[in-house]
Amino acid sequence: MTRVLTGIQSSGKPHLGNLLGAISPALEASQRQKEAGFFFIADLHALTTIRDGKILTENTLHVAASWLACGLDTEKDVFYRQSRVTEVCQLAWILNCFTPFPMLANAHSFKDKSENLSNVNAGLFTYPVLMAADILLYDTNVVPVGKDQKQHLEMTRDIASAFNQVYPDTFVIPEALIQEQVMTVPGTDGRKMSKSYNNYINVFLPEKELKKVVSTIVTDSTPLEEPKNPDTCNVYAIFSLIATPEQTAELRTDYLKGGFGYGHSKNRLYELILQRFATERVQYNELITKPEQIEILLQGGEAKARKVAVEVLHRVKSKLGL
Ligand code: TRP
Repeated sequence: MTRVLTGIQSSGKPHLGNLLGAISPALEASQRQKEAGFFFIADLHALTTIRDGKILTENTLHVAASWLACGLDTEKDVFYRQSRVTEVCQLAWILNCFTPFPMLANAHSFKDKSENLSNVNAGLFTYPVLMAADILLYDTNVVPVGKDQKQHLEMTRDIASAFNQVYPDTFVIPEALIQEQVMTVPGTDGRKMSKSYNNYINVFLPEKELKKVVSTIVTDSTPLEEPKNPDTCNVYAIFSLIATPEQTAELRTDYLKGGFGYGHSKNRLYELILQRFATERVQYNELITKPEQIEILLQGGEAKARKVAVEVLHRVKSKLGL
């Protein structure tokens, strides 16, 4: 059996980077398996940065609608909110007691914020342990994640191996599945697309707003008539991540021949987004008006997830004499 599992934090509305870097590869990895994939909304992780309940609920709805619009099949796959399978908190505590302090102090997610320690809560510090619990609680084999999560996956493997050293055959050691070509999706300013940089493209926006966001992509000031370098252009970089090889080759030719401005290429990117995400946009906008329906789907997934979680937690606790 191969169990594929991944989660997305509900710290914002999913954007193109999340779709290409996390949701699509995860769904593809799961479609290659007969067994159910496990996909969850990491709302407890989101709590490390968002404490507003209303915003958290809203984000959960948007994240859920994004997964479903991108083709998550709740008949086959298990789709749930992390916080609704409370076994994960018990396992996280147990794993905390098997995690060396220096390992956590070395995590990028913590180090990036450690200049201003008064702003770092303990949840942020132990973030990788909760993530390990997310994965180990379901006997996961494969975890599709972005490159930025690679270190967290290594920590999960280390924590699980350390535990297995003392109590053999307790945890399944998971493998990371990192999609090489979409490792990082550039944002409108050329840095990694991220909510925290406010440089993201939400492909579910109404047409006019979407067009406006695409128009903010930063380009150089090469005049319209001159040839342009596609390899240093953000518009081209984003375009090539979602286009067919033929579409990309065509855009490349237009860049190189001159007489083709950044306004033209932005327009082409905008049209491509509309075309490439046409079905998803319709589905998303329909779902977002029906939170009750999403709630029912999530509750169904939570019941299925809990069954596995209870069993694995029992295995762990009985070894520990708890
Ligand atoms: N930390 C991941 C992110 O920010 C989200 C996440 C939480 C996750 N738990 C996980 C991903 C378990 C994979 C497996 O993207």
